[in-house]
Amino acid sequence: MTSDLVIVVLAAGKGTRLKSGMAKVLHRVGGRPLVSHVVSACQTAVPDARVVVVVGHQAEDVRAVVEPLGAKAVVQQPQLGTGHAVMVSREAIGRAKYAMVVPGDAPLIRAETIKGLWRAHRAGSATVTILSALLDDATGYGRIVRKHDGSVAAIVEQKALREEQRSIREINSSVYCFTLDKLWPVMAELKPANVHKELYLTDAIALLDQRGEKVLAEIVPDPQEVLGCNTRAELAEVDRIFRARKRAALMDAGVTMYLPETILVDAEVAAGPDTVIEPAVQLLGATRIGASCTIQTGSVVTSSVLEDGVTVKQHCVVANSRLASGVVVGPFAHLRDGAELRHGARVGNFVEVKKSVLEEGVKSMHLTYLGDATVGKSTNIGAGTITCNYDGVRKNPTRIGERVFVGSGTELVAPVQIGDGAYIAAGSTITEDVPADALAIARARQASKPDWAAARRAKLSASSITELPATSGPVKKLHRKFLRGKAKKKRVRR
Ligand code: UD1
Ligand code: CA
Repeated sequence: MTSDLVIVVLAAGKGTRLKSGMAKVLHRVGGRPLVSHVVSACQTAVPDARVVVVVGHQAEDVRAVVEPLGAKAVVQQPQLGTGHAVMVSREAIGRAKYAMVVPGDAPLIRAETIKGLWRAHRAGSATVTILSALLDDATGYGRIVRKHDGSVAAIVEQKALREEQRSIREINSSVYCFTLDKLWPVMAELKPANVHKELYLTDAIALLDQRGEKVLAEIVPDPQEVLGCNTRAELAEVDRIFRARKRAALMDAGVTMYLPETILVDAEVAAGPDTVIEPAVQLLGATRIGASCTIQTGSVVTSSVLEDGVTVKQHCVVANSRLASGVVVGPFAHLRDGAELRHGARVGNFVEVKKSVLEEGVKSMHLTYLGDATVGKSTNIGAGTITCNYDGVRKNPTRIGERVFVGSGTELVAPVQIGDGAYIAAGSTITEDVPADALAIARARQASKPDWAAARRAKLSASSITELPATSGPVKKLHRKFLRGKAKKKRVRR
């Protein structure tokens, strides 16, 4: 581990401009909190550097996001500005020779960029190396004021810009690399000389320059990397850029996408080569998709694993589920909360599967609910089957064996077990276990009464006409006549 470098991620601010009840760095881009993008980039950039995150607003929630990633949280309370945030992390920085500072609200920063700045700082002789960017619209950012020799004299915040500084397009990204023995003395001199009464880290630059310390700025080639998420509009724009990058990375890895700009892919999603993703698909959470899969239009797959050669037809909802190779689901299927479909299983339209295992070759093609169930190999579940898993108090299991034939319209009242090779007659309500190879019929015996319907029709036409099938013209006419007659009779009776 290099004790030389500590990376300090600033994440204590509230983010007033978002007008949110949630701290800014917890807002999501690509389905992941802003700050976790930044922490990951820092760790990838310099794997042996320690990462310290300054937390403050909703400190415990932010800590809960960054500490599992391996970063250390330091609390800044109250939040008195970016300079104050660095001072608060001094103890955690300890005896490191260098510190990089990275803002927690700029999630598009690339690991290579952070690594490049770290390299540039060590190669140069500057006390500070700033990452800057050239923006067409620099509004809101601190501006880099350069001297004739190209080194930096100061960073001037938007509100303090003098007239002749307004046209400066070079902005401070808030990513810096400092040589610490030179930085600490000037930090003690920071003054809250601004409308917000904060200690600005940016003021340290002019102080260093006044002491004759060299300050350099390296311009990042891709200015999108430093965009912050200070407003909802900026958040949306950064998310858009992030997702475009993500799709490009998947396409580079061999994934086909049609109308890619309509496809929403979260940060952690992976997909294998020759997988085809159709328009208006959403791939969310930690979804892992194998090779040669097809995800058809309108489907939403969340935190699920799809092995190779899986087909998800149109408009499926798949969440926290596992689909083995060769599985076909949909259209209009709903798999959730631990649905597990083994090799070659098939689930069709309007079938919901919850916390259930469908073994190899199981088919459940239409209008079915399977909850808390296990279904053995090659079993066929007929249309309209329902596992009645909930008794009003708890969820009960249904165990269906191999090669079972469950007739259409069956209700399986759990807990219940169906043995291997059994048959369930259509329309049965099964409340007791069925032995292997048995036939279970659990429905009222049918009674057919000959000529009953014809007799009824005859009786009706003799007394009242209201139930005649009023389809053809002459019959309708007759119907109206009879109704008029009835109305007359009623009036007479009254
Ligand atoms: C800051 C810079 C500005 C730069 C811009 C780039 C200052 C004074 N200004 O402005 O020059 O162009 O970033 O995005 O530094 N934070 C804390 N503790 C605090 C205050 C802020 O941890 O007391 C954190 C915030 O959570 C945020 C980061 O520091 O992640 C930057 O703060 P923010 O308020 O967004 O600064 P900007 O106004 O964007
Ligand atoms: Ca910002």
